[in-house]
Parts: sequence; structure tokens; C-alpha cells
Amino acid sequence: MVKSIEWVAGKVIMLDQSKLPCKVTYIECTGYKKVAEGIKKLWIRGAPAIGIAAAMGVALGAQDIRATSYEGFMKSIETIFSEMLATRPTAVNIRWAVQRIRRVLMQKRNEPVSRLKVILIEEAKTILREDIEVNRAIGRWGAEFIKDGDTILTHCNAGALATGGYGTATAPMLVAKEQGKRFQVIADETRPVLQGARLTAWELMQEGIPVTLIPDNTAGALMQRGEINLAIVGTDRTARNGDVANKIGTYTVAVLCKEHRIPFYVAAPLSSIDFSISSGKFIPIEERGPEEVTHVFGKCRIAPVGVNARNIAFDVTPRKYVTAIITEKGAFRPKDLKCLMMSKTDPDEFRFRP
Ligand code: MRU
Repeated sequence: MVKSIEWVAGKVIMLDQSKLPCKVTYIECTGYKKVAEGIKKLWIRGAPAIGIAAAMGVALGAQDIRATSYEGFMKSIETIFSEMLATRPTAVNIRWAVQRIRRVLMQKRNEPVSRLKVILIEEAKTILREDIEVNRAIGRWGAEFIKDGDTILTHCNAGALATGGYGTATAPMLVAKEQGKRFQVIADETRPVLQGARLTAWELMQEGIPVTLIPDNTAGALMQRGEINLAIVGTDRTARNGDVANKIGTYTVAVLCKEHRIPFYVAAPLSSIDFSISSGKFIPIEERGPEEVTHVFGKCRIAPVGVNARNIAFDVTPRKYVTAIITEKGAFRPKDLKCLMMSKTDPDEFRFRP
């Protein structure tokens, strides 16, 4: 399976997703600023993957800190945190990773700085390893919703490339395949950056899962013809009420699903759920440069010089369109998601099963 990011011999190696599928190239990051640049420029993208990248970037940056006191070390680390947090605002995973690292550093405050540097590398590697385990659990819960003969629509890329491995939206597909189910996937091309065409189609083909690529505006027609049985997408940030931010166009897919009575599932690791916000209206939405809309691959112009263009990178799907959110703890109706915040509540009472 394709690896989006790795820590190898004191360096962060990321697969340059901006060049896929035409070129498979790896970028070697020896400093945290390169990692931050990679997140901004979409060399690495997808909510869990950028959380992992941020953690590795912090670990990398920590190695160059000269301070010998805990306080001095923390001051420098906070600067690195801020740079990572400033890269992309919508996915909550960068903040999740930063908060996790802060907690670890608090617990280890009596350790010497040399040891803290090692602890940060270990923590970043653990975040990567756990992400893969979480995705496999999402896969096991989510596969229950895939039946033999199904056609699944997906949007953007929530596959191995968008995570440490296995993907979130693709995990149920991979598990269903392991279970011997036969199904096919329809991948929205996902303008403007074409994550569906360039990445999802590429990944699924490598996994031997039948995939058909469609322009984004074809999904409604296929639903009308009865050719889609369910949709599974990922999320960059889901609020505690179950409103879902994901790649622009996800909302359109969800509304179309509702109209055609097609179940719409969101695969969401807990690291992508922001329990601190009550609804999707508090999710910051990234707007990117217009050149991603007016050009393809940053080179080939497809619109007139001087035309106005909008590039809203994500939208928010209100929870009323979401059938269930599939987490590593099981699938839940959006209204029941908050049971995961309550330590004394048994999630089994709320789980949504087919
Ligand atoms: O702009 P991107 O490519 O980072 O957007 C990615 C998505 O919208 C994914 O669907 C989301 O991050 C979930 S990835 C498991």
C-alpha cells in the first residue's frame, strides 16, 4: 500500500501528491519549514496525513532547538506549533496533533531537553502507527454497510494518501474486499485540484478495486438512473452535532443523496472530530488562490486572462444529510456522536448498524 509520509533516519519523507499520478517523487524534509511548505502546497494533503506531517515537522524542528531549559525549549516549540497551525485552517487534525504533543511535553516536563527531543520523534511515529490502526477499525465498522454488488460513490481522496495508510473512506472498501464482497466505486474527479481523478482512482486501481472516474457534475445523473447505492466520504472537521466539513462539492453530493434516498456515510477518525464546537458554522473554511481554478497543474491555463475565480476549498454538510458517521468506535447517527465525549456512556447503546 502506498505510503504518504515516513520518518526515515532523522528526515521526513513525503510523497509529492501534487505530481501524482504523472510522477511518483518523494520530498526529503530536513527542517520543519519544509514540512510546513509541503502542507501548504499540497505535497501532502488529507486531514489525518497533515496531522501526522505536523507532528513529524515539530519533531524535526525540535532537533535544532538550542535551549537547554524546559521553558526555553517550550518557547521555541510554540513557534513551530504556530507555523504548523497556520498552514491549513479547516482540518482539525493539525490542532489535534499539536494538543497531543503539548500534553506529552507537559507530562515529561522533568526530563532533560535531549530526552524531550527523542520523545517527540517517538510520539510522531506513534501518531502515524495509531492512525493506521484507527483506519482499519473504521474499515471494519464501515464494511458492514457495503453489500455484494454495491456501487459506492466517493468524493475527493480519503484514501491511504490522505492518511498514514489504509484511508478513512476507502478503509470500508478495503475491508469489504478482504471479506470477498464484490462492489465497484465511482470517483468524483473533484475539481479544482482533482484529488478524485489523480489520487483516488490511482489508489483504488492499485488495490484492484474496480473504479470509474466521473466529472463532478455526473453524480446526480447516475443517482437518477439508480446506479449508486451509497456514498462514503471523508471529513476534515466534523462538529460535535455531526455537521461535516469536507472537500468542496461534498455538500452537493449529500443533498443529491437525500433526494434519491441514498445513504450518505462519513468516515471520521476521532482525530477529525472537533468536540469543542457545537456546529459546522464554527468551522474555518480555507479559500485558496484562484490559479487552481484558472489553471490545471499550475501551468495550463483553462480560463481567460483576468477572469475572476473563487476557490473555496471545503464546504459544510449539515447533519440532516448525513446517514451515519463511521468512527473507530463504531458508526453513529450525527445526533448520537456526542456519546463519544461521555466517558461513562457505553457507545454500544448508540451504535448505528445496517
Ligand atoms: O484539500 P485536501 O486534498 O487536503 O482535502 C482533503 C479532503 O477533503 C478529504 O476528504 C479529507 O481530508 C478526509 S481525508 C481522510
